[in-house]
Amino acid sequence: MAGTSSTERGSWNSKLGFILAAAGSAVGLGNIWAFPTKVATEGGGAYLLVYLVCTFLIGFPVMVAELAIGRKSGKNPVGAFKSLSSNKFFPLVGLWGVICGVMILSFYTVIAGWAFGYAFEEIFFYFGWDAGANWLTDTSNGFRNAIIAAVFMIGTIKIIVGGVSDGIEKATKTMMPLLIGIIIIMIGYVMTQPGATEGVREYLLPDFSKITTGLIFSAMGQAFFSLSLGMGALITYGSYLNKKENIPQAAAMVTLADVGIAFLAGLLIIPAMYVAKNAGIEIFVGDQLASSTDLVFQILPALFHSIGGAAGLILGVVFFLLLSIAALTSTISLLEVPVSFVIDEYKVPRKKASWGVGLGVLVVSTIVAFNTSLIGTFDYIFSNLGLPIGGLLTCIFVAFVWKTDSAITEMEYGFAGIRQTLFSKVWPMFIYVICPLAILYNIITNFI
Ligand code: PHE
Repeated sequence: MAGTSSTERGSWNSKLGFILAAAGSAVGLGNIWAFPTKVATEGGGAYLLVYLVCTFLIGFPVMVAELAIGRKSGKNPVGAFKSLSSNKFFPLVGLWGVICGVMILSFYTVIAGWAFGYAFEEIFFYFGWDAGANWLTDTSNGFRNAIIAAVFMIGTIKIIVGGVSDGIEKATKTMMPLLIGIIIIMIGYVMTQPGATEGVREYLLPDFSKITTGLIFSAMGQAFFSLSLGMGALITYGSYLNKKENIPQAAAMVTLADVGIAFLAGLLIIPAMYVAKNAGIEIFVGDQLASSTDLVFQILPALFHSIGGAAGLILGVVFFLLLSIAALTSTISLLEVPVSFVIDEYKVPRKKASWGVGLGVLVVSTIVAFNTSLIGTFDYIFSNLGLPIGGLLTCIFVAFVWKTDSAITEMEYGFAGIRQTLFSKVWPMFIYVICPLAILYNIITNFI
């Protein structure tokens, strides 16, 4: 164990607790709000295929690297890079991760707030309280956006204040099974509705002519965002991990959970969209399928309203709660990164750090709430570009500064025979060559 620091900083109570917390970080708006429409509009099964390749061949090796860095150092991303080498540049990579986390969190809470507000909108609509329902659905209302984002942020802070095992682990251990249960039940319902099979076809049939450098860049960005990579979330979560846990195995479980839930979310959302089309609701803008935002915040509510009655109410509320839960388990990890940075580096007590950082991010969120066009800009800079760049530099650090062999030595704790496995021969190749080149190539071709 990382000695005294682990007791002060906290640690996971159980392996399952860690897996659920890390999977909770991974599974979020990226899976339910962004992924399904990206698949449907950017090539169906072809996008899915590229996404899976990016996830397993680029994302998974980077996740292993982040967890190893975190557990070895027992620190936040900045402290981790500092403690594993004397190189002055790499702590800045950790800092870049902290900045990306803060900026992603600032717009993430606004979208999460929309989802949370819509759960109540469904109730207001059911009871015919139109004024309240209309207020809740007006995503252009900055004041409304700011208030609900604040509620969401305060909820996140309250969980973080509880610490690693009593706060984060406990909350995600209840929320993740609930989330999986809700998705499966909703898929069961949607599949029985007319129009659903057309949606399944749109979702899964590949259109290989759509594979372009733009698609590959988009799928790679999505993979990094969805796996919570490139900003130190998994360095931080890894820093609370017990030495007896097997890192590659844990990373594989988190990756599979993330991909599995993204896949299920697609199987829920795209067919639901075609059920809506069947019910006479417009789902195309020109010849393009509606965007993620229109889909989730206009078409699906219209579908729930058209189903009407208690069924419409229950489906609507449950769906938006699902989205809110998924978002909350992710905002927890987004906030934990800068909070752990402040706790470790400035020796601020957890409670003070959580409220201070959380409310600081809320100021940025409020600006975003009033200027929602910033969401796209922030998403592009800090998610699509920022996370792959963070991942690239993490690979370079492990390959050339800390050395993959030191990482494998760290992984021997919890995986004694690792040096006799194929993994220990192949993983370094990914970290030295395949991941950095793939990421770099993607970023460069996207600009050209
Ligand atoms: N993985 C989360 C999602 O898919 C977002 C996230 C990104 C969370 C980076 C933490 C760190 O929605």
